[in-house]
Amino acid sequence: MSAPLILVSSRTGNTRILAEGVRRAFPTAVVLDAAAAPDSLEAFDPILIGFWCDRGRAPEEIERLMPRIRGKRIGFFATMGGDPASPRAQEWMLRTCRNLAALGAQNVVQAQFLSRGRIDPALFERMSAGSAPSPEREARRRESETHPDRLDLLEVEKIFREAFVH
Ligand SMILES: Cc1cc2nc3c(=O)[nH]c(=O)nc-3n(C[C@H](O)[C@H](O)[C@H](O)COP(=O)(O)O)c2cc1C
Repeated sequence: MSAPLILVSSRTGNTRILAEGVRRAFPTAVVLDAAAAPDSLEAFDPILIGFWCDRGRAPEEIERLMPRIRGKRIGFFATMGGDPASPRAQEWMLRTCRNLAALGAQNVVQAQFLSRGRIDPALFERMSAGSAPSPEREARRRESETHPDRLDLLEVEKIFREAFVH
């Protein structure tokens, strides 16, 4: 029997929090850091993969993991500082998930979910490079401050539960 596996890349903890919502849909799942994925993935299906938006890409450790994933049902969940409902973010998520799945072979992507995630204050400081951030950028930071929140977790749980029909 195959067991669900949740693999997470999270630098500042947001995606790790979102993984809790995914785990509620798969209570028996093992949750591991993506970098600590088991040598053999044979026994696992589906594989639920969490990542964050790293300068417009998926983190390198996720790109390195994907070629090992073959013939699996996959669910992707991710967090970003920007607005996940914007067309740009939606397109980014679609494109990124498609490209990631294609790094492996014969995978079927059954679910994807994108959430806002709190922007690390030190990073925000650096991005603003000492100058006062623009009102738009500051509004974006403030908007992300409390995410992922309880509703984000409920939503990812619902979407993953329904997509994998159990
Ligand atoms: C190095 C770095 C690069 C980032 N690049 C982007 C980006 O291009 N677009 C975006 O919307 N958010 C960006 N963010 C914000 C993160 O994607 C967001 O805070 C995410 O929730 C972090 O997830 P984590 O806490 O699981 O590491 C970046 C954050 C870091 C640390």
